[in-house]
Amino acid sequence: MNQVDKIRIEIQMLKKLPTLSHSAEKILRLTNSELTHLDELINIIENDLPILSKVLSIANIMCLGYSGPITNLKDALFKIGFNNLKNVALSVSIFSLFKVSGHKEKTYKKLFKHSIATGIISKYISEEFLDIQDESAFTAGILHDLGLFAIHHLYYDAYLKIENLVLSGKNVSEAENEVTDLDHSIIGKWLSEWWGLPEEIGEVILYHHEDPGKLDNKYRRNIALIHLANYVAEKIGYSIYNGIKESVFYEPGVYSLLTLPEIGDLINHIKSELPLEEINIL
Ligand SMILES: [Fe+2]
Ligand SMILES: [Fe+2]
Repeated sequence: MNQVDKIRIEIQMLKKLPTLSHSAEKILRLTNSELTHLDELINIIENDLPILSKVLSIANIMCLGYSGPITNLKDALFKIGFNNLKNVALSVSIFSLFKVSGHKEKTYKKLFKHSIATGIISKYISEEFLDIQDESAFTAGILHDLGLFAIHHLYYDAYLKIENLVLSGKNVSEAENEVTDLDHSIIGKWLSEWWGLPEEIGEVILYHHEDPGKLDNKYRRNIALIHLANYVAEKIGYSIYNGIKESVFYEPGVYSLLTLPEIGDLINHIKSELPLEEINIL
């Protein structure tokens, strides 16, 4: 059996990977009907304290600090809305499955912060410049490197080998393929299917390092947005590999699909408008 088959089977059979937590399962099953599920959502989050504190912190960053601190869930619900609150809680519960302690914590935190930054930047760009009020931008952004969390959690030695290859100048996808015969986009897609995440999230995860301008995919605008947000997060200081980019940034491809300010202006604007330094306290 080759390495790819071995990893696929390990993941598919869930020999090592945790199943979704009780909270995440329940949140995923909630539909978008606010009236029916409002109390249920609040109840799930309030009964899971580690999730509650992270949800409140992220809600504060999402609100850009305009309206005073959010200190409780009712406030968060009022300011970011039901769907955003649900997606933040779902993402945080998913990340908590991969939580580590001790010497692994440093690399986990980098992944976590990169993911939060990418989610918040995706949401900001979509609302501020693209006029898309679609919460999937945030969820896809925050979960785009799900496969990296899995490699980190299941194959930590491989994760470190990949990191060393990248720091010595190798392209991330090449390094991942050299060590595991796979890359994190494919592993993330498998996970999204296994857990029954929306199809759009899985597609963005699978293609987030591809040139969006060359994709024949119905979600390619969202893929372009996350590809861009990933790059901006890295440029602003939230990279996974000490400032080294995860992949090539296909600027012409992104700009062929999205109408946005020039990349330098966009990055400066985001830097001055988003309180991303708050992510460091998470
Ligand atoms: Fe990635
Ligand atoms: Fe990323």
